[in-house]
Amino acid sequence: MSYQVAVLAGDGIGPEVMAEARKVLKEVEARFELDIEYAEYDVGGIAIDNHGCPLPDSTLKGCEASDAVLFGSVGGPKWEHLAPNDQPERGALLPLRGHFDLFCNLRPAKLHAGLEHMSPLRSDISSRGFDVLCVRELTGGIYFGKPKGRQGEGADEEAFDTMRYSRREIERIARIAFEAAQGRSKKVTSVDKANVLACSVLWREVVEGVAQDFPDVELEHIYIDNATMQLLRRPNEFDVMLCSNLFGDIISDEIAMLTGSMGLLSSASLNSSGFGMYEPAGGSAPDIAGQGIANPVAQILSAALLLRHSLKLEDAASAIERAVSKALSAGYLTGELLSSDERHNAKSTSEMGDFIANAVKEGV
Ligand code: NAD
Ligand code: IPM
Ligand code: MN
Repeated sequence: MSYQVAVLAGDGIGPEVMAEARKVLKEVEARFELDIEYAEYDVGGIAIDNHGCPLPDSTLKGCEASDAVLFGSVGGPKWEHLAPNDQPERGALLPLRGHFDLFCNLRPAKLHAGLEHMSPLRSDISSRGFDVLCVRELTGGIYFGKPKGRQGEGADEEAFDTMRYSRREIERIARIAFEAAQGRSKKVTSVDKANVLACSVLWREVVEGVAQDFPDVELEHIYIDNATMQLLRRPNEFDVMLCSNLFGDIISDEIAMLTGSMGLLSSASLNSSGFGMYEPAGGSAPDIAGQGIANPVAQILSAALLLRHSLKLEDAASAIERAVSKALSAGYLTGELLSSDERHNAKSTSEMGDFIANAVKEGV
């Protein structure tokens, strides 16, 4: 069986961490005798520079012809002066999610045993560990609702976004959250703002309905403001967090940092036919780009999710995850995970990639 993967490294640290994911994939292919073909395409700022638009036709066609997309990150100060729809995020990333109907975004955050000290949580809280899966709706809500725009002028000029959810959109993501919970700790926490937003009232109603089909899964509802706070107080009591698009965006950065770094959180964005785009939850990190210090783990773990969800290669996926665990528990860490007095031990982006690729090769 041969597979086709489109590689869209993008901007900032994207190409740096993508190089490490490719290194690791190469070892996985050798060990599991896989035949994966890669085709690289420009996306985001680099595509604006090279082709005059953030999502060239050739890139979209390349993704359409593939089994899955491995995505880096897009955006940065260089393109922020452009009109919003011409910028990398609104002109490439969101259209890709919409075009392929990637409504289901999975972002798994687990505090590594033995690495509790990397978390900014108080030690009595981090010592209990946590394992949270953020299930984020990705193609609806306030990100995509119409109308969206600006009108008027002077002091009366206004801007508007529309938050909109249909029963169908809520139901399909809720079902995924409950199914995921069945394979985990059997608890779904649905995050909303039902004390204010009409969308959240419908969200709760639909989620309650879906819950009837999953009597073995406990359901609780929580307001987004309280959720961000409770995650800091008792993260170990959460299992699956079911979120709308905007709330999931917020929750995912928080759970990433609770594990120690934005550079650890991978993600899978899936449609209903198994096609997916896989990318770190964090961005192009312009503040550290070009220095060879970015953490490649989120990109490497995103490659593992690609193998699992789109190519159905579970053994290869878990081999990568074990290799990452080996690196982290051996204290093999990039600088952002270390305190300032430990930072002299920091590994570079490529040292991390080498270690993990080698661990895959040795068959941990
Ligand atoms: P960011 O996630 O890029 O960075 C936030 C902080 O986390 C920074 O201090 C950064 O150095 C750190 N960080 C992120 N990834 C890291 C890694 N792998 N290793 C070490 N540290 C890491 O968020 P931002 O600064 O708000 O956004 C920067 C740009 O990225 C913006 O243009 C934004 O729109 C874009 N962005 C793109 C994506 C994507 O393409 N999927 C996601 C988020 C943000
Ligand atoms: C993410 C990012 C994107 C989002 C941006 C870059 C559009 O923050 O994937 O979390 O908000 O979804
Ligand atoms: Mn985000």
